[in-house]
Amino acid sequence: MLEPLRGKDVKPVIDSGELTARRLSAADYLPQEQSLDNLRSAAAKCEGCDLYLRATQTVFGSGPAPAALMFIGEAPGEKEDDAGQPFVGPAGKLLDDAFTAAGINREEVYLTNTVKHFKWEPVGKRRLHAKPNSREISACQPWLLAEIQAVSPMLIVCLGATAAQSLLGHKFRITRQRGQILALANGQQVLSTWHPSSILRTPDADARQRMQEELFVDLRAAVSLIRR
Ligand code: URA
Ligand code: SF4
Repeated sequence: MLEPLRGKDVKPVIDSGELTARRLSAADYLPQEQSLDNLRSAAAKCEGCDLYLRATQTVFGSGPAPAALMFIGEAPGEKEDDAGQPFVGPAGKLLDDAFTAAGINREEVYLTNTVKHFKWEPVGKRRLHAKPNSREISACQPWLLAEIQAVSPMLIVCLGATAAQSLLGHKFRITRQRGQILALANGQQVLSTWHPSSILRTPDADARQRMQEELFVDLRAAVSLIRR
């Protein structure tokens, strides 16, 4: 008959730390040498959260380094997922209009997203955009922080609350803090404005017009700040 084990006889076979699964993130994929080119090729293989599973490809940021202005959206949409480039769909078209209105040359700025894979839900045959959650945003943040480091912008422009909350914390409210110049702990200046997609999704024509004007005003403010 087996004797019941006494407390002092029980020996741990493995350290309890090994039982806690470590959550993957983009940090596990960062290259040693963090130039934009190295970051881009490393991000192409990222499996730091589940979003890569259903997306076509990583959509990394695009533009020069250094760049005076860096724009951060939410996540690639369907068009971006197909093309592998940020802001090439309808939101990108409105962003281009805003750039023109503010005298910004798209080739001179760095464009990226808070998460680098398209998140979607099937609606019929269509892939409908879904919002990344806080776990996916944190998992992807190492790419974003490395891009900021490599691009060294004078000003970051967050397009919408997802980008702003990733950098400024979950208490950030776009409705209250839009248009304000805020600073990160390291002194990096950040301005947040409406996401072009949220403007396009606004059903009321007057409200949509007002948001579009505010986006244009904010981008003009961004330009005067970097030219000061
Ligand atoms: N919306 C985004 O947030 N980013 C893109 O690249 C396209 C649409
Ligand atoms: Fe990696 Fe970001 Fe894609 Fe997740 S969303 S797999 S963290 S690149």
